[in-house]
Amino acid sequence: MSVDLSTEYLGLKLRSPLVAAASPLTGDLDGLRQIEEAGFGAAVMPSLFEEQIEAEEMLVAKLQDHGAESFVEASGFFPPLEDYNIGPQKYLELIEQAKKTLKIPIIPSLNGVSTGGWLWYAKRFQDAGADAIELNVYYLATDPGTSCDTVEQRYIDLVSSIRSVTSIPLAVKIGPQFSSLPNFAKRLREAGADGLVLFNRFMQPDIDLETLEVRPGLQLSTSSELLLPLRWIAILSGRVDLSLAATTGVHQRDDVLKLLLAGANVATMASALLRNGIDHGARVLTAVRTWLEENEYESVRQMQGSLSQRHSADPDSFERANYMRAITDFTAP
Ligand SMILES: Cc1cc2nc3c(=O)[nH]c(=O)nc-3n(C[C@H](O)[C@H](O)[C@H](O)COP(=O)(O)O)c2cc1C
Repeated sequence: MSVDLSTEYLGLKLRSPLVAAASPLTGDLDGLRQIEEAGFGAAVMPSLFEEQIEAEEMLVAKLQDHGAESFVEASGFFPPLEDYNIGPQKYLELIEQAKKTLKIPIIPSLNGVSTGGWLWYAKRFQDAGADAIELNVYYLATDPGTSCDTVEQRYIDLVSSIRSVTSIPLAVKIGPQFSSLPNFAKRLREAGADGLVLFNRFMQPDIDLETLEVRPGLQLSTSSELLLPLRWIAILSGRVDLSLAATTGVHQRDDVLKLLLAGANVATMASALLRNGIDHGARVLTAVRTWLEENEYESVRQMQGSLSQRHSADPDSFERANYMRAITDFTAP
């Protein structure tokens, strides 16, 4: 009997629990087609950024006011992103094309931090046929005068704004640093979120000792980074009425299996695909299927959450008790 790999995410039925995370690989029709062929359950498109949408709106306003002579000045407002994705109008067209051509759910991503007109793009995503929306709030609080309440309220306002103009499911991609993640998750749910994507992998600038300069850098992840989302998915699973997607550190069969046992609805992949190609996803899915068969599972759903904190025989292992046990048991190598 063949194993049922299907899962539910954001109220959508996916044929498999592996999702292609936002990255350049999901930014054109050819990449999205390969992702479907490899067996992924859904694809998240690379983000459209608040800054890009606002730059385009400024450009349109300038063109209307002053004509084509202002084009060069206005289009130079935000150049770097032009190399990353295709710009707001083409982005909407890609959603439409993907929906016409492919069967898997397509999830466009909005990336920004302030409430404003750019959030209307969520409605445009919906009108273009998107199955769901991912909102990436890539925000770092750096001002000592900004309280946790203010930071959290910013997310709540963003979610409420999108919810007020759309009816399709909404996932929110957040970072790991909140004082009480379970409470914050509950508030996001109340504001209208349907799922969480855990966690944003913030870029970590380094210092170059030769040049004494700060080096920004984007490095691909490794499986060792999985443990952070793994813990929090295990803690949140069954405690909040939200779908849970894992991002960061999903590379191999075991990473996917662990996340499903912890309670993830889906595991998402970016670095592993950028490093090994989209076909890597197909190999991981075959290995997941084989493991399930060998371990006599009939479906992904049967295993999902069976080792979450609520179902674990040793719930303390996710908490402080385990920390104390770990340091007392530790022996130097
Ligand atoms: C080159 C590159 C581009 C990315 N672009 C986006 C993006 O546009 N929007 C977004 O939400 N995440 C973006 N990400 C983050 C990934 O979606 C993912 O969350 C992160 O890389 C952690 O997952 P991983 O360990 O599988 O790489 C990008 C990552 C990489 C490596």
